[in-house]
Amino acid sequence: MDFALPDDLLALQRAVRTFAQREIAPVAAELDRHPRFPWPTLRKLGDLGALGVMTPEVHGGLGLGQLALAVLLEEIAATDAAHATIAAVTNGLPQALLLEHGSEAQHERWLGKLATGAWIGAFCLTEPHAGSDAAALRTRATKVDGGYVLEGTKAWITSGGEAQLYLVLAKTDPAAGARGVSAFLVERGTDGVSFGPPERKLGQHAAITTGMRFDGAFVPDGQRLGAEGQGFVMAMGSLDGGRIGIAAQAIGIARAAFEAAVRYAGERTAFGQPIREYQGVSFKIADMATRIEAARLLTHRAAWLKDRGYRVTGEASMAKLFASETAVAVTDAAVQVFGGYGYSAEYPVERYLRDARVTTLYEGTSEIQRIVIERQVRREFER
Ligand code: CAA
Repeated sequence: MDFALPDDLLALQRAVRTFAQREIAPVAAELDRHPRFPWPTLRKLGDLGALGVMTPEVHGGLGLGQLALAVLLEEIAATDAAHATIAAVTNGLPQALLLEHGSEAQHERWLGKLATGAWIGAFCLTEPHAGSDAAALRTRATKVDGGYVLEGTKAWITSGGEAQLYLVLAKTDPAAGARGVSAFLVERGTDGVSFGPPERKLGQHAAITTGMRFDGAFVPDGQRLGAEGQGFVMAMGSLDGGRIGIAAQAIGIARAAFEAAVRYAGERTAFGQPIREYQGVSFKIADMATRIEAARLLTHRAAWLKDRGYRVTGEASMAKLFASETAVAVTDAAVQVFGGYGYSAEYPVERYLRDARVTTLYEGTSEIQRIVIERQVRREFER
């Protein structure tokens, strides 16, 4: 058993940490106050290879695995969660699906653009009435000569309107339930595709989120990904990896809040001594450290197993559940350590708390993770 990261991942970790501190940290608070999609820093992340971590080098990516992506996302999120969300989605959902299920022609057409960060990818599963119950989606893809016509509405699309490539799940056979869903690659600018205004959110403001409409949008046969009817299973498979990425992001946010709280607890004095000398603060710090460590172990183990070809549906959900709830608890505790200053925008911890909150919601709520975990437990016991 070896808990040490290999040398190449330690080097990647150092490079991303340095980059994030130099390029992202100076703009993070400003992007939170005045949200805009952070194209300048995303371009630089692309140059670093951070937007094509698992895509092979022949297509312009780093050719690394899920553990590398987890290490990288934690580092980005420790500086700014919004950048990490954009990076997690483009790496982990559309790009990972294209890599796994795309034809050679589809790889040639889109992988290089995504892997280098020239294009950002988005994932379009959720609909206004179908979030947790994803198979209840209603967007229709009707077969016509040479392709499909898409009709319907998507919701909560990360990078909506900014991304250039959208992986869209739509029903080709509504009577077949989850088995009647197919996946399509749709470029921004396609006739009949439009976006709503950016959603007003609690946090992660620069990770622009919009609705999306399809009004008779024609998508050629060559833009269907995988076989007809395979879309839902493919999407669920990609969420196994995606959830590991969100777990890593949650750890990064928690770490940032934890480090800020530890520093503050050593500097701030009350009743004649630094506040860390009081058990009310020191026990909080001990609990924060323990939870972050446990979350990272679950996350790295899930990533490590996935890199070795194991199905990690249960492990990914455990990591996502534990890490996201850790992020909410740790950022909340950090605000408490800061006292009144924790509530002030003068310090970053209130932003960390707002940014952390969505990690228990997107890529499956905590309740959905528990459903997935319990189903895996049941399967193990029934074997
Ligand atoms: N890997 C491979 N196949 C899988 C799978 C997985 N992880 N999970 C399910 N499947 C397969 C099943 O085996 C089944 O196949 P068969 O037809 O052969 O039996 C099929 O998919 C349907 O699965 P279920 O019967 O389990 O489907 P369900 O309707 O009961 O739903 C669910 C399962 C887990 C609750 C699912 O709906 C779910 O994950 N919901 C949450 C949706 C979600 O996470 N959305 C996130 C949106 S993306 C996002 O947030 C990104 C962002 O912007 C930040």
